[in-house]
Order: sequence, then C-alpha cells, then structure tokens
Amino acid sequence: MSLVEQIEQLKLEVASTQLNSADEVEAFRVKYLGRKGILNDLFEAFKAIPNEEKKAVGAVMNGLKTSVQEKIDEGSLQFKSNKGDVEVPDFTRPYGEWSHGSRHPLQLVREEILSIFERMGFSVEDGPEIEDDWHVFSGLNFSPEHPARDMQDTFFVEGQPDTVLRTHTSSVQVRVMETTKPPIRIVMPGRVYRNEAISSRAHCQFHQIEGLYIDEGVSFADMKQVLQMFTEAFFGKAKIRLRPSYFPFTEPSAEMDVYWGLETPADHRITKGTGWLEIMGCGMVDPNVLAASGIDSEKYSGFAFGMGIERIAMLRYGVDDLRHFFENDMRFLSQFKKTI
Ligand code: PHE
Repeated sequence: MSLVEQIEQLKLEVASTQLNSADEVEAFRVKYLGRKGILNDLFEAFKAIPNEEKKAVGAVMNGLKTSVQEKIDEGSLQFKSNKGDVEVPDFTRPYGEWSHGSRHPLQLVREEILSIFERMGFSVEDGPEIEDDWHVFSGLNFSPEHPARDMQDTFFVEGQPDTVLRTHTSSVQVRVMETTKPPIRIVMPGRVYRNEAISSRAHCQFHQIEGLYIDEGVSFADMKQVLQMFTEAFFGKAKIRLRPSYFPFTEPSAEMDVYWGLETPADHRITKGTGWLEIMGCGMVDPNVLAASGIDSEKYSGFAFGMGIERIAMLRYGVDDLRHFFENDMRFLSQFKKTI
C-alpha cells in the first residue's frame, strides 16, 4: 500500500471513530498526535519519499491531521468535565435573586404625588414643552414687560420670538381651560426650562407638578384643605402655613410652608433654624386668567398650585445636592431599588 493509500485509509478510520467519553477522546489524541503516535510515524515515512511526491503527499497528510484535530475538538467540547459526564441542570433549585433596575427617584416622587391627588379626585394632564407665549405668559396674565419673559429666564426658540421652552407647567392650565368646561380638577406633571446660570449648582431643566381646581364656589379654604391633606399624606406632617406671595396668574397668591420640625441637626440646616420649609406656590386663579381662557369668572372660581419635584425629592430622600439627580451615578441610583 502506498503512503497515500495508507493515509486515505486512516482518514476513513478517523471519520468513523465514535468517541464516547473524555477518556476516549484523550486516548484518541495520544494514538494519533502523541509522541509515538500515528502522525509522527507517517512523518518519518514522509521524509523518505522522493522530493517530487512530497507536495501531493503532504496535502493528504495535512487533511488527515485536520480531521483528527476536529474529532478531538468535538469530543472535548462534548465531554467537558473530564469524568465524561454531561452536567444536567437541577431544575428544582430555587432561583437566585433577580437584579432589577431601579426607578429614578424623581419618577418615584412624581408618581407618589400624582397618586395622592388622584385619590382626591384629580386627573392627570400634560402639555407640550415647546410652547407659545400665550400659554406660558400672556394667557396667565403676565404683562408684556414682566421680568420672567426676560432673556435671562426664558429660552426662546431661535428665530421665533413667540416660541419658548415652557418655564413652568402653568401653561398646561391654560390649554386645559381653553378646551374643558368646569368642573376641572387636574394635576399636570412635566419638565420645565429656565435659563438660570447663576451658579454651578443651577440647572436649566427641572420638573414641576401643577394643580388646578375650578368649579362653582371653590374657596381659599378648599385650597388650604387640599394642600394640607397632600402634605399629610406625602410627608406625614400636618402643620402648614400660607404666606402671602405674588404670581401674575393668582390672586391672592401664597407660598405654602410645612412645619418640618427641629429634631435633628439636618432639620436645623434645611429649615435654616426655623423649622419651616417652603413647599409650593399657590393661589386663587385670577379672574383675568379664567376670562382669557373663556371661563365665566362670575360663575366659577378656583385655585392652582405648583411645586418642584426635585425639591420635594431632596426632602423626601435627604439628598443634599440637586446634581445627583442628573448625573446617573449608579451608586446613587441603585439606592432606590425596590424589592418586587
Ligand atoms: N408656576 C409657578 C412657578 O413656576 C408656581 C405656581 C403654580 C404658583 C400655580 C401658583 C399657582 O413658580
């Protein structure tokens, strides 16, 4: 038998070999590729053949070597554990802990606030972030020279002096009042923009939740009660006070403070030693605003309020720097993981 015939025969043998365990794979490897293995013997014989035959014979030999190696690779993969037993998963094992992502703290606070108002009969509305002057300012009784329209506070869309990024969620009030007949009882969460580059801590984008209640005979006392119920439900603190304030779209206007207490050093720090914390702006909707949206201000009255979600979230979680909310540091965010 010629060398080539021998090799072809070996190839057939290799192809028909069945390897049934890791041991058999190893024995096969030694038989063919070991120091005293078949391929070494063939190589010795190869040396002796005439040079002009070497090319053709070498190619056939390489083919054999490749099929041997493939057989070994296949076997090793199949019998990974050297005992030759295939690992069977234990389907009865209890599964380990799932690693869930976490909701963003601003999202958690937003949902909690909305759900408190929903329980009081408010429904949720939203509106566009890119707005026109009417919905952000004019329809809310801002005079043409009001400082909030100033370039320093408001982002204008280039080339469109009438189009702005809304500076507050009060714009949604106007949209809803224009299209809905009272009674109106809504909360409006959303993102707002202000050009407040006054310090490195300032952020040009934040979130607010707005509230609006309009019906016949709605009074300041109704507002006070709703805000009191909210504060109690959210913070577990029932003592509030209303301080006179000013907004163009409410009359009278107020700031609502909650009595936070002075129990810990942190309480002293965040309340500046007073025990009181400002939570939101509010007031009775100015009759001009009702009229501008087509609501009969003789018949209907109502109140509105607006709060910043970041500020509430800082108080809820004791976060001392606004920037944590926007940096997406996993060490910060994963603290808000909830087990499901
Ligand atoms: N829009 C006001 C602000 O951005 C908050 C507010 C809303 C005040 C509704 C009164 C009534 O500061």
